[in-house]
Amino acid sequence: MQAVIVSSFGGSDVLQVVERAEPAPGPGQVLIQVEAAGVGYVDVTARNGDYQPLPEPGFVPGVEAAGTVVAVGAAVDERWVGRRVFALGRNGAYAEAVVADLCDVVRLPDGVGAVDAVALGVNALVAHLALRRAHVEEGERVLVRGAGGGIGLMAAQLAAASGGVVTAITSSPERGERLRGLGVTHVRDRTAGRDGGAETYDVVVDPVAGAELGRHIEALRPNGRYLLVGAAGGAPAPDAFAGIMTTYHNSPSLFAFSLNSVDAATVGQAAAELFGRADRGALRAVVEERIPLAEARRAHERLESTPVFGKIVLRP
Ligand SMILES: NC(=O)c1ccc[n+]([C@@H]2O[C@H](COP(=O)([O-])OP(=O)(O)OC[C@H]3O[C@@H](n4cnc5c(N)ncnc54)[C@H](OP(=O)(O)O)[C@@H]3O)[C@@H](O)[C@H]2O)c1
Repeated sequence: MQAVIVSSFGGSDVLQVVERAEPAPGPGQVLIQVEAAGVGYVDVTARNGDYQPLPEPGFVPGVEAAGTVVAVGAAVDERWVGRRVFALGRNGAYAEAVVADLCDVVRLPDGVGAVDAVALGVNALVAHLALRRAHVEEGERVLVRGAGGGIGLMAAQLAAASGGVVTAITSSPERGERLRGLGVTHVRDRTAGRDGGAETYDVVVDPVAGAELGRHIEALRPNGRYLLVGAAGGAPAPDAFAGIMTTYHNSPSLFAFSLNSVDAATVGQAAAELFGRADRGALRAVVEERIPLAEARRAHERLESTPVFGKIVLRP
């Protein structure tokens, strides 16, 4: 099969297209013929050698794949063969076929294609499982930072679907208009001066962190919930969390959320629910670009250059 490997840790030029023997599914595993693989920052950090546990160079990157089961290992029901599935694993998805543990595999509804499945993938899971902790109620004001990014796009849609009145912070009027089309009520352009003003929010979803984290914590209303889910804008200042103490009498809550802390069964249930919503038209996958597998290098360069709006998807 054709696969893309990280030949040594470094820039996008370390991605090489190679011919590899198809992997064989072991006990409790399935072999998936890949139709779409998601491209995300986790792959970039794996490529750079910044992601733990560190695999040996020569590994196939990619944690999200969707396609059809073509073989099963011992102790797996043969009826899995032929099923369309999504799998979230530990590398291996940038290939024509990937092996996955059955506990990491979710069946796809008929109405959700492979490209849409990986476009929802990790981003929708992070947004959904983090927002669950905030219990957004009807009419609550929700601020989404980095709203035009992968996690932000999903958080904005899911918060609006919960009845939240969503304000999106993004970086251009065009991105703002696209966000309005996904259910966002108010848009703030972070490139046009200060993006917060005196507005306050019941819930803040923050995949950005960076130097502005502190003042967004201070924008919480009484009993507000702050969901820190990433750091696309870099590490926050050392005193960024001081607002928790200065607004203490408002009972603010701070949740730091990583998908890595969630067990496979919970991830699987959440994925099934999200794919169900997409199947009913209640959640939209957003795809920035479909790129042939052999051009994985270009996919990484695209991700690391100008901001994307939605997922970059590799197609074998
Ligand atoms: N919690 C988890 O389990 C989990 C899982 C996967 C990834 N992550 C992390 O979550 C973060 C976001 O991931 P993502 O896939 O959503 O990334 P992404 O697609 O690059 O989106 C990040 C967005 O943040 C905004 N942004 C970027 N730099 C900024 C800056 N300096 N100041 C303000 N806003 C900025 C941009 O949105 P606008 O242009 O629209 O403003 C950008 O599109 C990353 O740090 C990633 O590693 C966390």
